[in-house]
Amino acid sequence: MEDLKSIENKIKEISENYKEEPTGGYITGDGPVPCDILFVGEAPGKTEVEQGKPFVGLAGKTFEKYLNIIGLTRNKVRITNTCFFRPITIKEGKNGKVTISNRTPKIKEISLFKEILDAEISLVNPKIIITLGNVPLKRLTSFKSIGECHGNLYFNEDLKRYIFPMYHPSALTYNKTEEFNKAYYEDWVKLKKVLETQKNKIF
Ligand code: URA
Repeated sequence: MEDLKSIENKIKEISENYKEEPTGGYITGDGPVPCDILFVGEAPGKTEVEQGKPFVGLAGKTFEKYLNIIGLTRNKVRITNTCFFRPITIKEGKNGKVTISNRTPKIKEISLFKEILDAEISLVNPKIIITLGNVPLKRLTSFKSIGECHGNLYFNEDLKRYIFPMYHPSALTYNKTEEFNKAYYEDWVKLKKVLETQKNKIF
């Protein structure tokens, strides 16, 4: 089995050798190993690369707020991503001003890290994997979209592990309706219940 150091070295090697599309740095997962609870996000953004940790930017603040609401803290969970480099789009405006923005990782970019994420899951050996948004959901399950499965617990036969799909925390930035806020909060409450009631079964 791979150890953490070799996983980190491979992330560095893959990220530094990838020249097909623009990228803006890379990070590794964060948190204890092994760990019963693993959150899997999409890909790091600017702040994550600057600080070398997943979910420390705007979406990360939302994520951590809800994590704390259900009585968990970052040091109790492992957090990682599906794509370990920051996928970016670089645009030059008419005035010559260059803007850099995040983009969703392409399928080929997610594939580059398939073995890395699998190795991290094996090493972390979580009892439950919480996918954040569509990118990790589609990478790890056969669900077509987060809308059809969020807030429910599934046993994934391929991984032989429980999966709990959730919306990505940045969805709250795009959908500010009271209805969505409520649904998002309720998913966290459901996760809390799952962690409590499944404790004897899966932990
Ligand atoms: N969004 C993600 O999906 N991952 C991060 O690490 C940060 C923001």
